[in-house]
Amino acid sequence: MKGKSMRILSGIQPSGVLHIGNYFGMMRPAIALQAEGEAFYFIADYHALTSVRDPKALRENIRRVALDFLACGLDPERAALFRQSDVPQVTELAWILSTIAPMGLLERSHSYKDKLARGMPPSVGLFSYPVLMAADILIYDSDVVPVGKDQKQHIEITRDLVVKINETFGQSEPDGQIFKLPEPRIQAATEVVPGIDGQKMSKSYGNNIDIFGDEKEMRKRVMSIVTDSTPVEAPKDASRSTIFQLYSLVASKSEIAGMRERFQKGGTGYGNFKKELFEKLWEYFTPMRERREEILADKSYIDNVLARGAKRANEIADQVMTRVRKRVGLR
Ligand code: TYM
Repeated sequence: MKGKSMRILSGIQPSGVLHIGNYFGMMRPAIALQAEGEAFYFIADYHALTSVRDPKALRENIRRVALDFLACGLDPERAALFRQSDVPQVTELAWILSTIAPMGLLERSHSYKDKLARGMPPSVGLFSYPVLMAADILIYDSDVVPVGKDQKQHIEITRDLVVKINETFGQSEPDGQIFKLPEPRIQAATEVVPGIDGQKMSKSYGNNIDIFGDEKEMRKRVMSIVTDSTPVEAPKDASRSTIFQLYSLVASKSEIAGMRERFQKGGTGYGNFKKELFEKLWEYFTPMRERREEILADKSYIDNVLARGAKRANEIADQVMTRVRKRVGLR
């Protein structure tokens, strides 16, 4: 990437309220990366159509994701924030990619199998979800994609599709490439943020702690974290505790060390640890809640940000699509 700035891209579905798994797994790393290159962050509304069937709810969720992402620190002067559907060419690229995507590659998708196992109807859109995701990444010539671990296989599928399209259509290129290989960027410490039942936090598992839930709601969720039946006085295993894992995301080094010690020593019940976790979590997100109120007070702010982001995203997507159409023989 010498001489050229690194392109960073990621997306988030507006399929519900954002939770702290989204925040620590993707939003916080994406916000940190916005200073390191040219960042494109989008609200994946086309993807959300695979599960959201209520147009009003979808529209509201899209705005809320924009609001929450901005409140958490996305800087629209540095990063383009936009709706996926404001760049409709991405569906054209998805079609082109789908003509070379092997069925077997998509059939191996864990996320697809998981969704079917949870009872979602197996629509064509759900099946080809990773192809649209590949188009999202490739239409901006992205170098780096910050995501949580659950998206890793999707990036691998994207990379497989790049190899395939370069083999199929890249021969006439000086470097044999139509697209370059994007890299996933996964933070080891937050690759899978656990939910209140200890499984991966996910809205669809109902184990989420929302970033901007009200105080009572957040306290209730934290207090219902599932624990084992170790008695108060007995030593406890911090490394296996969801409470401790979540606390480690928001507390200082010395506070973390202090809690680990008290786990090992025994004498403190899980209820007390949960209270401490709630206090820290609430405090951690306080400045963001304040920023959120400020953004809400400015009625046109979100629309302006999304319009500017869409304009920037379309500039790049148009260039890439002109190149792709030419290479594959369209127009
Ligand atoms: P989505 O909306 O499910 O999640 C958004 C981001 O949050 C991360 N995440 C987590 N990370 C750690 N621990 C958790 N418990 C946790 N839960 C969610 C996800 O890994 C993700 O990074 N398919 C994507 C959206 C998308 C996309 C893209 C992403 C569409 N096109 C192109 C990157 C590039 C999705 O549904 O994310």
